[in-house]
Amino acid sequence: NADADAWGDLEGLNVVVSAGGTREPLDSVRFLGNRSSGRQGFAIAEAARERGAKVTVVAAHVALPLGEGIRRVEVSSTESLGVAMRAAAETADVVIMAAAVADFRPAKVADHKIKKDGDGTLTLTLVPTEDVLAGLVRSRRPGQTVIGFAAETGDSGATVLEHGAAKARRKGADLLCVNEVGVDRGFGDRPNEVRMLASDGAEVAHAAGSKIEVAHRILDQVVRLRHQV
Ligand code: CTP
Ligand code: CA
Repeated sequence: NADADAWGDLEGLNVVVSAGGTREPLDSVRFLGNRSSGRQGFAIAEAARERGAKVTVVAAHVALPLGEGIRRVEVSSTESLGVAMRAAAETADVVIMAAAVADFRPAKVADHKIKKDGDGTLTLTLVPTEDVLAGLVRSRRPGQTVIGFAAETGDSGATVLEHGAAKARRKGADLLCVNEVGVDRGFGDRPNEVRMLASDGAEVAHAAGSKIEVAHRILDQVVRLRHQV
């Protein structure tokens, strides 16, 4: 059994995992958010703990409990997730960005509840958020392993794998775990399929199964990458 053989292979390592979905405030009671459940990130955290790592989870709106012995930091917006990830990354050997992070936030946050008025429509101006993963890759310490996720859909221009490869090269993480999402794939509690790409875009591994099985296969790649350095 591969999992049993692997037990303890992350002993002595500090692993930080982000999970869930960020929320960007719009006014005092509303936000822009996404449907990420946080399950894949939590599965990675629990699998890493099982294999001997010291684990910190930076959780954005995850309505799930975490196994014992895992440190949990609660965040909400992309900005707060970035602050928590940078702090945790200072002492981390492995940094995994599994959270679904907003790409845009409202340009201004109303300090009161926005009211209906005028012509019946409401126009929001959105501005880009910071790219937390790109920042973590830029400030990566020697020997630190940085892993990203990408939820992709195929379209007329390119396949899921082509989009993933371009993103892997753009992001520069040691590993990009590409997830195909669609109407009934990827989000929620369903079996997962993940293709793992190196920073040059080449596919180095493929995993399918439950989120905990996929988590272990991703951690196998972490172990492999760390033996390479
Ligand atoms: N990510 C991040 N900060 C952001 C957006 C994304 O750290 N502001 C991270 C995600 O946690 C994930 C990786 O970047 O690990 C890829 O996210 P994804 O949304 O697939 O890529 P984007 O670069 O945002 O590109 P797009 O959404 O346009 O496909
Ligand atoms: Ca995005």
